[in-house]
Amino acid sequence: MTYLPKPYVITAVEVFTSDVKLFKVKCAMDPQPGQFIEVSVPGVGECPLASCSFDGKYVDILVRNAGNVTTALFDLKKKDALFIRGPYGKGFPLAQLKKKNLIMIAGGTGIAPVTSLIEYVEKHRREFKEVFIYFGFRDEAHVLLSDRIEKWKKKFHVHVGLSNDVLTHKYERGYVQEIMEKHKPKVEHTVALLCGPETMMGGVTLELNRLGLTDNKICWSMERRMECGFGSCGRCQIQDLYVCKDGPIFRYDVIKPRLENEQSSEGVKK
Ligand SMILES: Cc1cc2nc3c(=O)[nH]c(=O)nc-3n(C[C@H](O)[C@H](O)[C@H](O)COP(=O)(O)OP(=O)(O)OC[C@H]3O[C@@H](n4cnc5c(N)ncnc54)[C@H](O)[C@@H]3O)c2cc1C
Ligand code: FES
Repeated sequence: MTYLPKPYVITAVEVFTSDVKLFKVKCAMDPQPGQFIEVSVPGVGECPLASCSFDGKYVDILVRNAGNVTTALFDLKKKDALFIRGPYGKGFPLAQLKKKNLIMIAGGTGIAPVTSLIEYVEKHRREFKEVFIYFGFRDEAHVLLSDRIEKWKKKFHVHVGLSNDVLTHKYERGYVQEIMEKHKPKVEHTVALLCGPETMMGGVTLELNRLGLTDNKICWSMERRMECGFGSCGRCQIQDLYVCKDGPIFRYDVIKPRLENEQSSEGVKK
């Protein structure tokens, strides 16, 4: 782990939608799937981003233009430099996933950390059982990493749900939990890994519970505002846990009571 940002060169930029781009960066980093990096633009600031894909020579980062830093990142082009420090946090609990069926569910740019796990499973295929993948996007124009999704369809059970599209021929219509319910993944000897907005993960978790998967077999990838990224500033705390250091991947039975306490103390403040 490094605490100092270092410059790395962008070797390619792929535009997906008006607000999402993928940057391929020459960077010999070897994070664990689900870990994150702090990416910065000098004079603007830095923000945490998932290491979406990496091979020891390059790191791919999928960026949604959400504010100050991500807007500055959006202006960068091939051959420009950006700064990276990390990797940070605890990624997916790989040891607990081995010899299990996996259900991976992602919404929007939540596909980034899930991609790092899918690529790990592709490289170590024999260590895992069946893999069920469900992605949710707004409409066909907002589907991310469609080339990789088509490739994964040949290896795993993959379904994509579009919540807003009335007419879709290539994908299915509905929220991601509806798509999952329709296809009924295996829930025996299974762990589910979720990444996306908390409302989406909440809905998916209820559906997983209904299918028979208990909270201790479900992991959430959490997002909170961050500063240091390594457990020093306290910016990312959810009660006694630090999203940057103890997460960003948490078992749901661990994070659920903290989220409930957080909500009830916010209610008291109001
Ligand atoms: C572990 C982790 C991994 C992430 N991975 C990705 C990724 O792969 N791709 C990606 O596009 N984004 C990812 N994010 C979200 C990304 O960090 C934020 O969008 C980014 O920090 C926004 O910074 P900004 O300076 O551009 O926006 P700002 O100007 O700081 O804020 C713009 C708006 O976004 C809100 N916001 C900023 N950060 C967060 C946050 N963490 N959670 C909720 N709301 C926030 C602000 O309140 C504000 O309304 C990740 C976040 C975390 C914590
Ligand atoms: S970001 Fe500083 S403690 Fe988590």
